[in-house]
This record gives sequence, C-alpha cells and structure tokens, in this order.
Amino acid sequence: MKTTPQDKIILVFGATGQQGGAVAEALRSDGWQVRALVRDPASEKAVALAARGIQPVHGDLTDLPSIRAAMAGAYGVFSVQPSSGQGAAYGVTDADEVRYGKAVADVALASGVQHLVYSSANAAGPTRSGMGHFDSKAEIEEHLGGLSLRSTVIRPSAFMEILALPGMGLDQGTFSFFMRPDQAMQFIAVQDIGKIVAGIFGDPDKFAGQTLEIAGDAVTGAQLAGNFSRAAGRPIVYQRFPDSLLHENAFLGGLAALVDEGRLAGNADLAALRADFPGLLTLNDWLEGAGKTALLAAMEAGGSEVALR
Ligand SMILES: NC(=O)c1ccc[n+]([C@@H]2O[C@H](COP(=O)([O-])OP(=O)(O)OC[C@H]3O[C@@H](n4cnc5c(N)ncnc54)[C@H](OP(=O)(O)O)[C@@H]3O)[C@@H](O)[C@H]2O)c1
Repeated sequence: MKTTPQDKIILVFGATGQQGGAVAEALRSDGWQVRALVRDPASEKAVALAARGIQPVHGDLTDLPSIRAAMAGAYGVFSVQPSSGQGAAYGVTDADEVRYGKAVADVALASGVQHLVYSSANAAGPTRSGMGHFDSKAEIEEHLGGLSLRSTVIRPSAFMEILALPGMGLDQGTFSFFMRPDQAMQFIAVQDIGKIVAGIFGDPDKFAGQTLEIAGDAVTGAQLAGNFSRAAGRPIVYQRFPDSLLHENAFLGGLAALVDEGRLAGNADLAALRADFPGLLTLNDWLEGAGKTALLAAMEAGGSEVALR
C-alpha cells in the first residue's frame, strides 16, 4: 500500500551533503514534511534547506540526546554517515561510523519510527571486503537487521560525481580510474539516490525488509572515454590507474582489487531498478546536465593527487 506523505515527517541525516541533500529534495517534492539534522543551522547550506521548505534542526551524530530530540514525532528516517573513506581530514574513523549508524537505528526503534532507510555501499556484505569504510557499513546493516524496526537498505554504486574529482588526468586529456578499458563498472548520479529513497518511503509494503543494490548505468573504461569525449567536445583517452600507483597507495589498490573481484564494479539489476524507479540517469544523461559542468570544471582544475578520499 502506498503511503500518503502530506502529514508525515521524515528526518534526514546528511542533508547538507550529497546523498542526504538529494533525499531531502526528493522527499520534499513528493510532499513529505522533511526535517534535517544539521550541525550548524546558521550555515549557508542549512539556510538554503530552510528556504526550500526543509526544516533544519540542530544536532550531531556524536550527541545522542540531539538525535532523540530530532527524531521526536518522525514517521521515517534516512540514515547515512560520513566515513573514513572520505579521508583523514574528515576525522571520522570506522569505529565512529559504526557507532553513529547503530545509534541512529537504536534511537529510531526507541522513538517509534515506522520506516528507516539506511544508505550503505555496494561493496558491503556478509563477506568482509577488507576495506574499513565498507566493512563498517556491513556491521551497521547487520545491527539494523537484528532490530524489530521496519527498514530498507540501499547499497549505492560509485557516484558519477566522483568521476569529476581532480587528479584523474582530465586536465591532460586523459582519464584514469579503477576499471580496465574493457571492464564494466556501475555508477549512480547522486540525485537518483534521492529519487529511489523517496520511492521506497512511498511504497513501504513493497520495499520494507529489502536490501537493494542501486545504480543507473554500467560503463567500461572505453565507453566512459567515448562519453567523456562527446561531452567535452575533444578526445579523452582512458587508462586504468597505473599499477605503480595501485601498489604504492593501499587505499586505491584495495578499491581496484574490489573492482576486479566484481563487488565494487557493481551487480545492481539496472532493468529492474528502471522499472521501479523510471528515469534513472545513464552516464550520458548525467553528462548532458550537471555532469557536463562538473566535467568541464575538472578539465580546467588540474591537480596531480587523486582526490578520492
Ligand atoms: N562516493 C561514493 O562513490 C560513495 C558510494 C557509496 C557510498 N558512499 C558513502 O557515502 C557516505 C557519505 O555520504 P555523502 O557523500 O552524501 O556525504 P557528504 O556529501 O560528504 O556529506 C556528509 C554529511 O554528513 C554530515 N555530518 C558529518 N559529520 C556529522 C556529525 N558528526 N553529525 C551530523 N552530521 C554530520 C555533514 O554535515 P555538515 O554540513 O555539518 O558537515 C554532511 O551533511 C560515506 O559513508 C561514503 O562511504 C560513497
């Protein structure tokens, strides 16, 4: 049975960031009352949320009473946490991420929340990956699965947005990433995470209890070069990150190994997802909109360090 959103509140974590921002927008446009837990309600991003009808409430993942207060009266919760994968400068350890993710689920149960959607990652799963920021998500998923709380887990593939980060050669007319030229990898536009999560909250009977790997497209390195060249209006050559870099940099090397194993390359059922959530963006679609601006900016930006964490 479809749920009528008008009077129901959904609390969104990370709404000043990528996933939470897309989710808050999509829920609002579907008519839900959206509340956003933010660390600084006076920040530019929090003020912008309020201007779009999303209610910022002050809170912090490190502060349980603030999570409880933000969840009071909420029908639903979108749970996403920062991770160690975002780099040491972010200051979040794998243990922090696990603690935050479990706390959000525990408080949701205690607060009488009726549906929680947790955003994990495609490489998370019962077999540990060996990468802390994926195994942390597996631990949160397992905790959630043990609670008597109606929930849905989404496991997003790599974001299309990371393709336009600096340090991958675009300023030199090349593009380097994890897959081999003939190997496919799945990607999702962040805005589609919002679309999918709003669809899940709209049809809890269909999606409760499910774990959904999500993506909008699968492209090989060679196809990606074609897409990028068309969007940029000049040739861009694709190559995998050099073996020397993957050897020296344990983080990048670990990710490349998971792409080779298949679990980070992604196994989402694209046709089934398109049937449930029509209009998911392909890489080409993304490059005709927001992605084109991001790609052109990355081509201007330069930067020799791979900015993936
Ligand atoms: N990049 C990928 O391809 C990919 C794919 C799958 C999954 N992921 C996962 O996605 C997650 C990050 O999501 P994202 O990219 O949407 O995040 P993001 O854009 O980096 O934003 C992080 C959000 O978390 C908030 N936040 C940080 N610390 C907080 C705290 N102590 N209390 C409350 N809020 C806090 C930030 O709010 P402030 O405004 O206060 O800073 C911001 O809204 C990570 O777990 C990552 O592993 C990434």
